[in-house]
Amino acid sequence: MSDTSVYPVKPAALENTLVNNDQYLEMYQQSIINPEGFWREHGQRIEWFKPFSKVRKVSFDDHFVSINWFYDGTTNASYNCLDRHLEDKGDQLAIIWEPDDEGEARKVTYRELHEQVCRFANALKSQGVRKGDVVAIYMPMVIEATVAMLACSRIGAIHSVVFGGFSPEALAGRIIDSKAKVVVTADEGVRGGRKVSLKDNVDEALTHPDTHTIEKVIVYKHTGADIAWHRHRDVWWQELTALTSPHCEAREMNAEDPLFILYTSGSTGKPKGVMHTTGGYLVYASMTHQYVFDYKPGEVFWCNADVGWITGHSYVTYGPLLNGATIVMHEGLPNYPETNRISKIIDKHNVNILYIAPTAIRALMAEGDAAVQDTHRNSLRLLGSVGEPINPEAWNWYYSTIGEERCPIVDTWWQTETGAAMLTPLPGATDLKPGSATRPFFGVQPALVDNMGRLVHGPGEGNLVILDSWPGQARTVYGDHERFVQTYFSSFKGMYTTGDGARRDNDGYYWITGRVDDVINVSGHRMGTAEIESAMVAHHQVAEAAVVGFPHNIKGQGIYVYVTLNSGTDTSEELKTSLKDWVRKEIGPIATPDIIQWAPGLPKTRSGKIMRRILRKIAADEYENLGDTSTLADPDVVNQLIANKAVAS
Ligand code: PRX
Repeated sequence: MSDTSVYPVKPAALENTLVNNDQYLEMYQQSIINPEGFWREHGQRIEWFKPFSKVRKVSFDDHFVSINWFYDGTTNASYNCLDRHLEDKGDQLAIIWEPDDEGEARKVTYRELHEQVCRFANALKSQGVRKGDVVAIYMPMVIEATVAMLACSRIGAIHSVVFGGFSPEALAGRIIDSKAKVVVTADEGVRGGRKVSLKDNVDEALTHPDTHTIEKVIVYKHTGADIAWHRHRDVWWQELTALTSPHCEAREMNAEDPLFILYTSGSTGKPKGVMHTTGGYLVYASMTHQYVFDYKPGEVFWCNADVGWITGHSYVTYGPLLNGATIVMHEGLPNYPETNRISKIIDKHNVNILYIAPTAIRALMAEGDAAVQDTHRNSLRLLGSVGEPINPEAWNWYYSTIGEERCPIVDTWWQTETGAAMLTPLPGATDLKPGSATRPFFGVQPALVDNMGRLVHGPGEGNLVILDSWPGQARTVYGDHERFVQTYFSSFKGMYTTGDGARRDNDGYYWITGRVDDVINVSGHRMGTAEIESAMVAHHQVAEAAVVGFPHNIKGQGIYVYVTLNSGTDTSEELKTSLKDWVRKEIGPIATPDIIQWAPGLPKTRSGKIMRRILRKIAADEYENLGDTSTLADPDVVNQLIANKAVAS
């Protein structure tokens, strides 16, 4: 990575910009010197039912972690996303939905979306959902996924969106952990011409005895597929909403009432239910959406993330709708039916801002100019990248081929736990360097620390931490505050630990170097290696498994699994295939291993700890620099693994 190629702010990006560089520096300073004053002012960007007088009460002390913002104010998320816009934007499009198969788009205005949300909110109430109940949403990328989220927040229910690509097993785990009362799903989803049996998956998940908290399954009829029906439990979305009133008062919520839970993987154990609350999240999601994308009224904004991930929460649903934007939602794949699909959608709906993950960029880049064939993309003004480090080659391709060197790229670094963008360029303020997420957003105090927790000053490298709270920060892990404290506040005292490593250059720009824990990032999706390992060892022929990431041209990182079989089990290519299928079934297609290597033994310390550092090097074909292997219980294991790998490849 080079610090030398710099792309200065474009004159066009300076026109009507919210902030130029001087303004950025001034505002940033204010946000750090006087956070109370800064957030008291910017907290006004949403409408409060009862105004807040208290701005923040925060402790990062690991004996008592507590994060509160605007905490004596009351408001409602759905009200802010919808009702607030009815007077001047009622007839403006809120969502343009583009189907998988290039068929006709569905469009809803703010008024129509408001009505649909009210109807569905009443439908939820009719099924017994009350304030504080958890509703699991397991939906395809259809308008109704957003409707369901906003209907929950309208009545004070907590949504827990589960990515539609997760398996029944993974869905069951999330239902059990959150004690959800209702599941909202669809008969099927469609992706790249293939049907995804969502309702069947729900049925299977609910055969798990511990999912008994679920009282109702609400099914949106999407493809019209034949599905099994449980008369006492299942209800059709369309039948319910036809009966319910289009009026539903938005419930007054305290700023610190939970808004949603979103499960995400960590380095150990099962996925955690990261919890976000109402007021601070709304302020931060809307503010970042407006400033990072320099969003201007009337523009069409397209973030192609699934609502099952945090990016879909903050930049499909909440951020843009809070700002009264028109968004595009696409059910299908970025390269289906042809490689130029993204570009065609841009032209079809005059998209001004495109926000996608590097993995999609690399997949398109691999096809060369086919990604832009027969399209002009004249409407595009700005490009965004999120979810994983973007390699300069992909950055340059995105910049020159998709954006025709006209559009700045905002490379935004953030996490499920941070709620919204944290390190990011601002189009009118920040000179760009390909591969760098550049500088902090307002109110964000990033720092680098060494492994002892000592601050790194000036240019250097270290663990990326955040020194103080910001309004969009997650408040806890649902039902397990101790885990929240342990995971994020115990490694380095008094700081939020991100789990990422980073480098800071001479200009103070940050370059994310990747995770420093046992989390891997596959196609922009965060996977815990422990999760895949535990799925692996649940297979009756597997004795032990160790999972590491390895460099992958398209996915960023691929999944590499070392497997030790039970004694007496023969190795075979068929067994590899069936182990891959097994993980697919246990977690979902995104967790499918790319490479399985048989391992007669794993490199362990004398105390039994697997030395992943060595496994990572072998997976990446870096045999020379294995580091110190003298502490291994059996150093010869390493030579065996290298020999095996050479034979295998
Ligand atoms: O490692 C970082 C990487 O994705 C992780 C967060 O994953 P998740 O919670 O699923 O949220 C993804 C969408 C915000 C981070 O710890 N990551 C995210 N954005 C970037 C990134 N790495 C480098 N550059 C980015 N822009």
